[in-house]
Amino acid sequence: MKAIGISSSGRTKAYSKIIVKDILEESGIEYEMINLAAMNIRGCLGCLKCASNNKCVQKDDFQEVVDKIIEADALVFGGGNYYGMLNAIGHAFWERTFSLRHRESFLFAGKLGIAVGLDRNEDKKEATAFIKKMMLSNKMAVIATLTDPGHWQCYDCGYGHDCVVGNVYAHMGLTTADNAEANRPEEYGREAQKEAKAIGKMLGSILSARK
Ligand SMILES: Cc1cc2nc3c(=O)[nH]c(=O)nc-3n(C[C@H](O)[C@H](O)[C@H](O)COP(=O)(O)O)c2cc1C
Repeated sequence: MKAIGISSSGRTKAYSKIIVKDILEESGIEYEMINLAAMNIRGCLGCLKCASNNKCVQKDDFQEVVDKIIEADALVFGGGNYYGMLNAIGHAFWERTFSLRHRESFLFAGKLGIAVGLDRNEDKKEATAFIKKMMLSNKMAVIATLTDPGHWQCYDCGYGHDCVVGNVYAHMGLTTADNAEANRPEEYGREAQKEAKAIGKMLGSILSARK
């Protein structure tokens, strides 16, 4: 039994990387982490050349990731919300899975899926919802989703977390207490940490029952 963990973040201490890894560690199963930002994966060209053999004609790193997922039993995919959608690096990957589903082959069908999104909008959870949607459209079995508000960034001063203006969170109208909770570059929300552990445990139980 093996799982693949993917983060679509370009940040070194990305929450998506940490959460996906926490889930996989807790599962106790063998896993490999893939950092999409370190790879070269372009968006879908819409050429439809994949229709005959379910293979994308673009020569980049997409097929390498696909082959690893096909070999695995589960995929835990995490990515951040950029402007109301999954970030472009993650989006490009999921667009390309169009190539895997012609003539009802669905090469990811039946793989267990866990969607991890970093979304501040609790009602929409756009990144989480998109990852889940793409897993389902690839006929994967989504066993859990997890959403955390992610790394808070300041959009006023342009210096992000280490805002030189001083209190970046004051820009957002947050209190000192909010600041302490938000100012956690390597530690995501406490509730989400518990959720990640529970999801990881469940993933491990499901897969070890199949051995
Ligand atoms: C260019 C950019 C746009 C963003 N837009 C949004 C947004 O519209 N909604 C949101 O909830 N978070 C937004 N964020 C915040 C990220 O989702 C957040 O930092 C998240 O933690 C990123 O995932 P990562 O920690 O895995 O890198 C944005 C961040 C960047 C850099």
